[in-house]
Amino acid sequence: MNILLIGSGGREHALAWKIAQSPLLTKMYAMPGNPGIAEFAECVGGISINDNAAVVKFAQEKNIDMVVVGPEAPLVNGLVDALEFAGIKAFGCKKSAAQIEGSKIFAKQLMKKYGIPTAKFEVFDNPDAAKNYIRSEGAPIVIKADGLAAGKGVIVAQDLDAAINAVDEMKNFGAAGSKIVVEEFMDGEEASILAFTDGETIIPMIAAQDHKRLNDGDEGVNTGGMGAYAPAPVVTEKVAALANEKILKPIIAALRAEGIIYRGCLYAGLMIVNGEPKVVEFNARFGDPETQAVLPLLNSDLLEIMLSCANGDLAKQKINWSEGAAVCVVLASGGYPKAYKKNLPISGIDAAKNLGAVIFHAGTAELDGQIVTSGGRVLGVTALDKNIKSAIEKVYKCVGEIHFENMHYRRDIAAKALKNV
Ligand code: AMP
Ligand code: GLY
Repeated sequence: MNILLIGSGGREHALAWKIAQSPLLTKMYAMPGNPGIAEFAECVGGISINDNAAVVKFAQEKNIDMVVVGPEAPLVNGLVDALEFAGIKAFGCKKSAAQIEGSKIFAKQLMKKYGIPTAKFEVFDNPDAAKNYIRSEGAPIVIKADGLAAGKGVIVAQDLDAAINAVDEMKNFGAAGSKIVVEEFMDGEEASILAFTDGETIIPMIAAQDHKRLNDGDEGVNTGGMGAYAPAPVVTEKVAALANEKILKPIIAALRAEGIIYRGCLYAGLMIVNGEPKVVEFNARFGDPETQAVLPLLNSDLLEIMLSCANGDLAKQKINWSEGAAVCVVLASGGYPKAYKKNLPISGIDAAKNLGAVIFHAGTAELDGQIVTSGGRVLGVTALDKNIKSAIEKVYKCVGEIHFENMHYRRDIAAKALKNV
């Protein structure tokens, strides 16, 4: 099969790495890809992944059998609809289904209508009404912009003043913030369950946990994710069963009842409150960096599973996972998620690989034959081992080999897992 992979982050490198292991693969292209992905795929520059017509034209010219869409923007922008209209298979959901991530209001109202457990909420387009509601509910309370705001449109306010200010800050998110959701604060531990689905059958992957805050001990600002590990012991067998029966199966059925067939990867961001999972958010794609911890544990053929999602015969797939654990530590540019320097040379990638790490490039570039930094999250270093404890030891040994100026990373990725085992 000829595959076109859309995207350029650590998640897409993990997808490329796993797809490349499939005997079904003939040739892979990545648009735009990155220097890590280039090991497995021909990287294609000069075409915007948000230009549906141009992507379709490229796929036709190269006889692409299936397009795998990594990031949310092209999904929300209807790339899969355009591909399918042109008769090209895709792994990824259509525009109507991507609203589950693209509009928090759509997701919340759908969950309410179908009784899927999530935080109580109200929607406002008038800031004063939102503030009055906040005063009546009290703090802590959560304020969210409606649309895609690159993970930044959420403010968890610990006191009333912060909550009132948060309503005013929503203006900074432009169109995404013109409507706001005010939500009950859920007190618990978070976990991410990614699932394969063809719109009928839904098969959860091994549960993972992200680390959204910048610094150790979950301090500092929210980021795109500073590390992840799997399996997450907070998702016990009982929690996993509840998530499957009360969240994953019902949301796919709810979408179907609304005339939407969801195909691709569905990401459920959960809060485990007193042993019961509740939905924080849905994403219409693989998680980043969860994918960099989850896919290394997948023993089955990813391409075959993706094909089944696209073809609607996922029920026939038996998906096997490794018994071990995986920990992914993100190495970020100093200053991220605010301004940071670029083009800093990176050393030690091969030495880390020699110690057994799988390295996923997230924000790198090649400059005169040297790998340099080019983004906020630069590399994901993943180590696999027999359990979380030994995987943590291994991953930090590997991280110790890698250097670039102002490199920042968390020292406590997966530490939470140890208290849960
Ligand atoms: P979201 O973009 O909706 O995933 O929100 C970003 C982060 O804000 C989540 O990962 C949680 O840590 C936090 N968060 C969002 N909603 C809630 C909530 N209702 N209660 C507690 N924390 C929340
Ligand atoms: N790890 C969070 C996300 O992918 O949205």
